[in-house]
Amino acid sequence: MIEIRALTKRYEDALVLKDIDIKINDGELVLLVGESGSGKSTLLSIISLLQKPTSGAVIINGVHISKLPDIHASRFRSLKIGLVPQSNSLIDDLTLMENLTIPQVPLSHSPKEIEQYSLKALKRAHILHKKESLAKELSGGEKQRGAIARALVNDAKILLFDEPTASLDSQNNEKFIALLRELKDLKKTIIIATHDSRLIEMDFVDKILHIKSGEIDE
Ligand SMILES: Nc1ncnc2c1ncn2[C@@H]1O[C@H](COP(=O)(O)OP(=O)(O)OP(=O)(O)O)[C@@H](O)[C@H]1O
Ligand SMILES: [Mg+2]
Repeated sequence: MIEIRALTKRYEDALVLKDIDIKINDGELVLLVGESGSGKSTLLSIISLLQKPTSGAVIINGVHISKLPDIHASRFRSLKIGLVPQSNSLIDDLTLMENLTIPQVPLSHSPKEIEQYSLKALKRAHILHKKESLAKELSGGEKQRGAIARALVNDAKILLFDEPTASLDSQNNEKFIALLRELKDLKKTIIIATHDSRLIEMDFVDKILHIKSGEIDE
């Protein structure tokens, strides 16, 4: 379970997240919907341990992740959380295969295992045919699918997607929705920040959280 308690985030004098309380059960698919600047990406980056909250707590399966020392935080993130950030986050001068190797480094796999897990994730995200391409040679939608593959590579239980369909055409959007259904069947816990009505209308969404100026609007 992901539990967020009395969470706030302040950047200098801007209070970007205000007293957020959320509970998300294992296996749920939750959409985080709100206008630009409402705090969606900030909340996802705190849940994925990339930023610390100003106050409050994020508790994942009983672990207070916002209190983990950095060295433990990075291993916890690799094992438990896959994040697809809003903007391109692949390393431009590495191939997709190389980009997928990086998150596996903390897990001490053999080179053979790293290759197998990378190929499986690339296949799932429908981008296997570009495995040897440098990230900078990919289109926007291909980069997005590469980032999805990278988020899947460690088979993390929690998957966070920040506007995942922003550069997908309708055919790739269908494939993404099919992938979400597959991940839901695998009992992943999924949070998606989105404006996309095609995702909001999916019949297997468990909860829609509306965020407005940093507050959850029930
Ligand atoms: N590093 C930062 N320093 C200062 N302010 C920031 C920083 N990151 C985000 N903000 C501010 O926090 C607020 C929330 O930003 P956030 O990126 O979380 O919004 P969002 O809901 O994801 O928007 P969008 O739909 O445009 O992606 C915005 O007002 C933004 O300007
Ligand atoms: Mg955002």
